[in-house]
Amino acid sequence: MEYLPKLFTNNRAWAARTVERDPQFFQRLVRQQNPEFLWIGCSDSRVPANDIVGLLPGELFVHRNVANVVIHTDLNCLSVLQYAIDVLRVRHVIVCGHYGCGGVEAAMQARPLGLIDNWLRHIQDVGNHYPELFSRLPSPAAKLDRFCELNVLAQAWNVTRTTIVRDAWRRGQSLAVHGWIYRLEDGLLQDLGFGCPDADTATHRFELAIKRLGE
Ligand code: CO
Repeated sequence: MEYLPKLFTNNRAWAARTVERDPQFFQRLVRQQNPEFLWIGCSDSRVPANDIVGLLPGELFVHRNVANVVIHTDLNCLSVLQYAIDVLRVRHVIVCGHYGCGGVEAAMQARPLGLIDNWLRHIQDVGNHYPELFSRLPSPAAKLDRFCELNVLAQAWNVTRTTIVRDAWRRGQSLAVHGWIYRLEDGLLQDLGFGCPDADTATHRFELAIKRLGE
């Protein structure tokens, strides 16, 4: 008996379609993956990384967790980052959050959900640093939008402060870190204007992007 037969049917259809379009597709991928981008996104099932940016398997290295958080002691995330930068030599790291993020919302409301509260605490800390970004917003929905944007920028900045990224920049490797946000309502991405190519300007770019949120 086959468990979840629909998924296997889908899989066989997808593999057949892919080979029909490009007979060498899988043989090529077996030999090498050569992604130019690392995507650090939310685990949310509505934000499928490859689909959103129209990239094929092999073109996007992906790490996802609840609310796209980058913490300096998270060996899982850091290992992905290190492998992507040092071995695959990606040229761009994209931290992509999304509006309506349940993780950010839970952090904002401080609603107890269990173990995950400890994870979300990092997002609360970010929010507590910037009360002025929220004080004049009219509604909880507007506050959540702002919190989602702020979280992206804070996590993108965190990426630039890792030893992995700092070492890459120190040895002259070409690498840029970006903060993007995705809107579930229309499927569109927005660049939050962080776009950082070096260590020297990272904090300045972060502060400028934060300031732009408040305008
Ligand atoms: Co989310």
